[in-house]
Amino acid sequence: MVLGVSGGIAAYKACELLRRFTESGHDVTVVPTAAALEFVGAPTWAALSGKPVATDVWTDVHEVPHVRIGRSADLVVVAPATADLIAKAAHGLADDLLTNTLLTASCPVVFAPAMHTEMWEHPATRANVATLRSRGALVIEPAEGRLTGADTGKGRLPEPAEIFEVCREVLAGSGSDPATDLAGRHVLVTAGGTREYLDPVRFLGNRSSGLQGYALARAAVARGAEVTLVAANVTLPDPAGVKVVRVETTAELRQEVLAATPSADAVVMAAAPADFRPVDVSDAKIKKAPDGSAPPLALTQNPDILHEISSNRVRPGAVIVGFAAETGDDTGSVLDLGRAKLARKGCDLLVVNDVGGGAVFGSPDNEAVIIGADGATVEVPRGSKGALARVIWDEVAARLQD
Ligand code: CTP
Repeated sequence: MVLGVSGGIAAYKACELLRRFTESGHDVTVVPTAAALEFVGAPTWAALSGKPVATDVWTDVHEVPHVRIGRSADLVVVAPATADLIAKAAHGLADDLLTNTLLTASCPVVFAPAMHTEMWEHPATRANVATLRSRGALVIEPAEGRLTGADTGKGRLPEPAEIFEVCREVLAGSGSDPATDLAGRHVLVTAGGTREYLDPVRFLGNRSSGLQGYALARAAVARGAEVTLVAANVTLPDPAGVKVVRVETTAELRQEVLAATPSADAVVMAAAPADFRPVDVSDAKIKKAPDGSAPPLALTQNPDILHEISSNRVRPGAVIVGFAAETGDDTGSVLDLGRAKLARKGCDLLVVNDVGGGAVFGSPDNEAVIIGADGATVEVPRGSKGALARVIWDEVAARLQD
């Protein structure tokens, strides 16, 4: 694979990205621009990649590097991608080795932009990004946060570990063809478990880790979607290119889901919202009674968000996906219970987990049956949560209308 590095301060973060690629067995050719070398020198790239590094087309001309490097790559990732590099790529300029490589690469190309907010939001950059996306390139949304100086805003390079995950997803999902079947789509994913407070320090919660929802968000970014992730009490790092909205309670989760649903082409409810909440939330910490008695705990039922957005559809054609953790019993098998729940909730797809053994929570693996309101049944054998996420998006993409 090729790691292109253009001239921004975030070039130093690309060293960690490079390490992740080489340590996971990838053969990486680093192609920095001349400006990138002002930030991180050629010896660093050469030492970390184990290969010589060139920026211009005049080194080793007999090997025709300006054509060979791009042609032989399985993936090109440009991190950081500056506004200037993006502009050159959009217009097909080829005045150095990296821009030549971008013109000769027929494999998937990922750009991880990093620049100041004004540059990212400038109409010129917006148009250039749109051009690259329309040609099938994956341009990851930059993160929000601290920029080079004292300023903050959108434009940060996402964490290298998360750019690496996007690249892994692209390689896993695409073969030689960029899988951009969710390009131009807005998808909403919920993850984690909500907390219902009894007082300022105590809450009722559940064991949901958020891993499956985060895997769904990552997989959707790698297929070109604009992704909003509503995360309830998840401690995982923000996936690259994802707008993460943090919530704690089911009421907050509901509010954020209802706010994002009108613009969402697909909603995947992977979160585990608490079904019940205390009737009263004490403003002060509840004290232990001297007589050893426990305080009364009256609960009330929370609204069912999945049922609400499925029965009151605000965007025609949107695909709504629920999850169900089931254990079979004498009223029916896991699949019977799943079918009944699908009908009750009114969603289009239901991902049914058999949690009889309790092995799903916090585990990197999952297995499930995806059932559709259209009668479809797709069995997904035990595998990573990323692999299940890919099949879920396959099913969603097949049901999206033009
Ligand atoms: N869900 C929701 N709002 C809730 C509870 C659950 O939107 N208040 C969603 C979950 O995100 C999940 C799906 O509903 O996608 C299944 O949740 P589950 O708790 O299994 O459904 P219940 O209605 O609680 O099932 P049961 O009737 O078996 O208790």
